[in-house]
Amino acid sequence: MASAIEVDALRKSYGSAVVLSDLTLTVPSGIYSLLGPNGAGKTTLVNILTTLVKPDGGTASICGVPLTDRRCVRQQISVTGQFAAVDALLTPAENLVLIGRLLGMSARRARGRADELIDSFDLSASAGKLVRDLSGGTARRVDLAMSLVQQPKVLFLDEPTTGLDPTSRRRLWADIRALARTGTTVLLTTQYLEEAEALADRIGVLAQGRIVAEGTAAELTARIGGEELVLTTGDGEVVRTLTTDGTAGGVAAALAQLGSDAAGLHVELRRPTLEDAFASLTGSGIDREKVAA
Ligand SMILES: Nc1ncnc2c1ncn2[C@@H]1O[C@H](COP(=O)(O)OP(=O)(O)O)[C@@H](O)[C@H]1O
Ligand SMILES: [Mg+2]
Repeated sequence: MASAIEVDALRKSYGSAVVLSDLTLTVPSGIYSLLGPNGAGKTTLVNILTTLVKPDGGTASICGVPLTDRRCVRQQISVTGQFAAVDALLTPAENLVLIGRLLGMSARRARGRADELIDSFDLSASAGKLVRDLSGGTARRVDLAMSLVQQPKVLFLDEPTTGLDPTSRRRLWADIRALARTGTTVLLTTQYLEEAEALADRIGVLAQGRIVAEGTAAELTARIGGEELVLTTGDGEVVRTLTTDGTAGGVAAALAQLGSDAAGLHVELRRPTLEDAFASLTGSGIDREKVAA
């Protein structure tokens, strides 16, 4: 079976600014997170893969269909953009029915599908209110429900939780996981390491216009190597840091090197975090405030 998403040597520049250079990636199925800081090119890639923007070079296909076959690609996909596409002056139910009708469903079928989605996204308490009167988190769930009126093979979620409070974010995560279990492949862009780690089967780190590292959260963490042995004073001041392989023998050997000077120091083993991995891979950090949110 063809991969859900296949991208080969994709290039895109705006004027002299190279946004994507030789970007290659494969998403077989499941949830794939494209992780990168603001301006990395995430939305540009989503716009190309959803046929809204033409690449300068390279190729890509969705479920085996080349991007050049725009009509067919559009039948396989759905998108929830960075900015909500719901009509604020309609209710969630009206928005959902409208999309169903636009997709060519009968009034009865569109209403039935709207009811199902209102049920599965737990929107019944809000179904009769205007979208403009809903909280940001609820409006975002309506947005997600709208992209599922017709179940897509591949769903693109461009920074779906940006701007949401932690509770709404977790709620949306649960919706995204449930959706992936129904067989839809999800390409989710995010600047939040925590989000990529919580949701994605695989993570691709986007930097300098290409995927600079890829794997599960654990694989990315492992890529930056062994555990650190940190020696501190009683009040937490770091005196020395030694790299070890994390085994008892490795730690004993590292400590033996230090001799008696270290006898009074406190010992701690630290594993690199995904955040450390990201910083070392891209040479850039991700805003810690955001990661902690
Ligand atoms: N239509 C456009 N015209 C000119 N520059 C653009 C356009 N779209 C995006 N860019 C530039 O491309 C870079 C990547 O943008 P974008 O794909 O939106 O990044 P991200 O979604 O990762 O924040 C940015 O420097 C942005 O200013
Ligand atoms: Mg973006």
